Amino acid sequence: MKIKNICCIGAGYVGGPTMAVIAQKNPEIKVTVVDINKERIAAWNDENVENIPIYEPGLSAVVAEARGRNLFFSTEVDKAIDEAEMIFISVNTPTKTYGIGKGMAADLKWIELCARQIARVAKEDKIIVEKSTLPVRTAEALKSILDNTGNGVNFQILSNPEFLAEGTAIDDLHNPDRILIGGDSSSKAGKIATQALVDVYASWVSEEKILTTNVWSSELSKLTANAFLAQRVSSINAMSELCEHTGADVNEISRAIGMDSRIGPKFLKASVGFGGSCFQKDILNLVYIAKSFGLNEVADYWEQVIIMNDHQKRRFAENIVKTLFNTVSGKKIALLGWAFKKDTNDTRESAAIYVADYLLNERAEIVVYDPKVKAEQIYADLDYLGSRNPEENRNLLKVVEKPYTACKDAHAIAVLTEWDEFKAYDWENIYNCMLKPAFLFDGRNILDRKKLANLGFATNSIGLPAVQMSKEKKLTSLATAG
Ligand code: UDX
Ligand code: ADP
Repeated sequence: MKIKNICCIGAGYVGGPTMAVIAQKNPEIKVTVVDINKERIAAWNDENVENIPIYEPGLSAVVAEARGRNLFFSTEVDKAIDEAEMIFISVNTPTKTYGIGKGMAADLKWIELCARQIARVAKEDKIIVEKSTLPVRTAEALKSILDNTGNGVNFQILSNPEFLAEGTAIDDLHNPDRILIGGDSSSKAGKIATQALVDVYASWVSEEKILTTNVWSSELSKLTANAFLAQRVSSINAMSELCEHTGADVNEISRAIGMDSRIGPKFLKASVGFGGSCFQKDILNLVYIAKSFGLNEVADYWEQVIIMNDHQKRRFAENIVKTLFNTVSGKKIALLGWAFKKDTNDTRESAAIYVADYLLNERAEIVVYDPKVKAEQIYADLDYLGSRNPEENRNLLKVVEKPYTACKDAHAIAVLTEWDEFKAYDWENIYNCMLKPAFLFDGRNILDRKKLANLGFATNSIGLPAVQMSKEKKLTSLATAG
């Protein structure tokens, strides 16, 4: 079966880039990405491709190449469903904020709505592809809705989890480590559907990298991959705290263990804590599923990864308060970075949100600079926590367009995202315009500590002993003073 028409429901961080690349690599397939969010679709259709709603290196160029040729963005969901032979579901599946499973289970409301909409509209057989990260056995729930409410047409459900990481999405899509497709290999229709999706990817991915499994293995593999990755970050973050107490250097430890080929060097960077839309949500999902089967030890084991991450964010903020003589009340603190990692404008679960909230509770005055995140997003993130009313958030926290404005007259700077541009700043200039002692908290270990100490900064980095202003600098400042 050769697919000619694809529809993707959900034009977000997963659906948008993935469909752009599928369209780029399959010019003969018409790909329509639909969303109920009119502004988002309008932004995807903006004449200037630099204004698309997602900042992702390389994405604008791919959109420029395929949009209008075989890639379309639309709000006409029914029409796109009707026309497509293959429908990707790529809608949001956040953690439930109410009822059973609150704070743990994925909220499948949007997935269910999609399924009901597909069932209502479809008049011909369709292949449904789960792209959003979902709890194991969601495919079964989807199938049940589709088969029981549909117009008698046949639906094949495939699981095709996305492994792209934001910030490197286009590269990850162009050169994936593997493509995973879960389908029903016990039926002829299941095999045909799986092969149809394999063919879409085979346009640019070599076949040995395309794995086919049963649906549940595919669904659970996605959760497992994210849990393992997050666990590595929590593991190195746990060691970072021990380093700060023992004089060991967490960067040296990462290097030493990363050279062990069994461990490998990736995902060993100690940080202020992991964020992003997937890690926490997927682990909570795993915990919830394990608990629902009565597997309490399995649940507790994975929950510890989240507990460690929460601890890391909190202790970073606590350390700022302690170092600033136990009070930040009325003190200006500049936060450099709000995105959950560099090269994205996504802020979901970003450590910056929690650090800012903690410092605001301590009555700090915060000024934020992020090269790609808009002020309205920063305020929306804070308002969502509900710690104080929106007016207070806007009074206590300001968002500025220039890093130097953020740092001027600040008591302290905290680096919360590892944006490359931070490394290139004129730190001498920044030091000169700050209040003294000039404190710097590097939550990503990206800045040159020696250089900063020589300039006069008192620097605190994750997993390293605090460095005071260098002796040479102290001597020079004494000499100048004397
Ligand atoms: C993750 C998975 O990597 C990806 O395969 C999946 O499809 C979606 O979830 P993403 O959340 O986009 O991707 O980013 P990732 O690069 O995994 O980083 C997640 C968080 O961990 C970020 O906050 C990042 O800064 C942090 N991190 C990562 C560290 O603190 N240290 C590291 O060594 C690596
Ligand atoms: P992800 O990171 O998983 O891509 P996003 O929140 O960025 O998540 O994107 C999900 C998109 O799905 C949102 O733009 C949202 O408006 C869209 N969406 C949710 N439910 C539906 C639906 N029933 N029909 C169409 N689009 C939907």
